[in-house]
Amino acid sequence: MSNANDKDVININRRRMLINTTSAMGAVGIVGAITPFVKSCAPSEKAKAASSPITQDISALEAEKMMVVEWQSKPIYIIRRTDEMLKNLALGNPKLRDTHSNESNQPNYAKNVYRSRDPHVLVMIGVCTHLGCAPGFRPEANTSLDSKWRGGFLCPCHGSKYDLAGRVFDGSPAPLNMEIPKHKLIGNTLTIGEDT
Ligand code: FES
Repeated sequence: MSNANDKDVININRRRMLINTTSAMGAVGIVGAITPFVKSCAPSEKAKAASSPITQDISALEAEKMMVVEWQSKPIYIIRRTDEMLKNLALGNPKLRDTHSNESNQPNYAKNVYRSRDPHVLVMIGVCTHLGCAPGFRPEANTSLDSKWRGGFLCPCHGSKYDLAGRVFDGSPAPLNMEIPKHKLIGNTLTIGEDT
């Protein structure tokens, strides 16, 4: 025969069972809610592809010409420079803000007056360091642009000037030289985004 105490024990046991069941279901719900979130944080195949290195055949690129390819949703300027252009870069230019690229962004092997691995081939992110416009390629010497203009890049947005190694002219609104991405060149096969 049960008494009041027995009923209390039964009720307490039932309550515990209900609490345990509800907690377990809640935990399943939380795991279910977290899984899609974790999945959505993982980089998509498209994002992975966009950040992967790309390879470009530059055999058709002529001297003094520029080719533009896209990498990481940014324009990559590839310029084949002549001996004359290299000579001008080596001469230096008193108008440059950061001649030795001490404050600018490039791999160590591009921290030189040419800002490239192979002096004849400039590989550069074609994005102005002021507000991100794409500077135009102006390879010709032209003193109407600047008394020291021996070819370079001119930003159409607010007039920043860069030399043929992407080094910014003092007085431009752009604060830094244009960025050089990791790259390697084997023959005419250029890889952008990888340098080992
Ligand atoms: S974005 Fe190039 S000068 Fe402003």
